[in-house]
Amino acid sequence: AWSPARGSEIIADHLAMEGATLPILHAMQETFGYVPQDAVPLIADALNLSRAEVHGSMTFYHDFRNEPAGKHIVKVCVAEACQAAGGNATSERIAKALDCAFGETRPDGQVTLEPIYCLGLCSCAPSAMVNGRLVGRLDDEAVDEIAAECRS
Ligand code: FES
Repeated sequence: AWSPARGSEIIADHLAMEGATLPILHAMQETFGYVPQDAVPLIADALNLSRAEVHGSMTFYHDFRNEPAGKHIVKVCVAEACQAAGGNATSERIAKALDCAFGETRPDGQVTLEPIYCLGLCSCAPSAMVNGRLVGRLDDEAVDEIAAECRS
């Protein structure tokens, strides 16, 4: 779990690197599963940056989350090819099936739903990534399967 001491250790490990912000953010997320809000001022102080700058790096890269993720992580592609293949409706269906809004973790901690920008699976659009696994051709059946997986 997050502690300022552990956070400071991670920062110290990467401090000598050039452009240390991203490696530190990655290491934080790897260690804690997210980048705790309290880590931002620590990183800013250590690197002589403003909190806004650290926060900016975090939000620029969609990979970082600032709260713990749910047990299951569903990322639905919202990029062009998937949109053209009806991805909008699919996204809505998935959000409904999971009872979770995009960019959020369901209050029971069971699932996190996130948009992602192209999974390289455009030929099988619309597509998603479910717990790290690529899923293409998201029809109703596939959506049901995803919802079932996220209930376990
Ligand atoms: Fe969705 Fe490429 S646009 S996988």
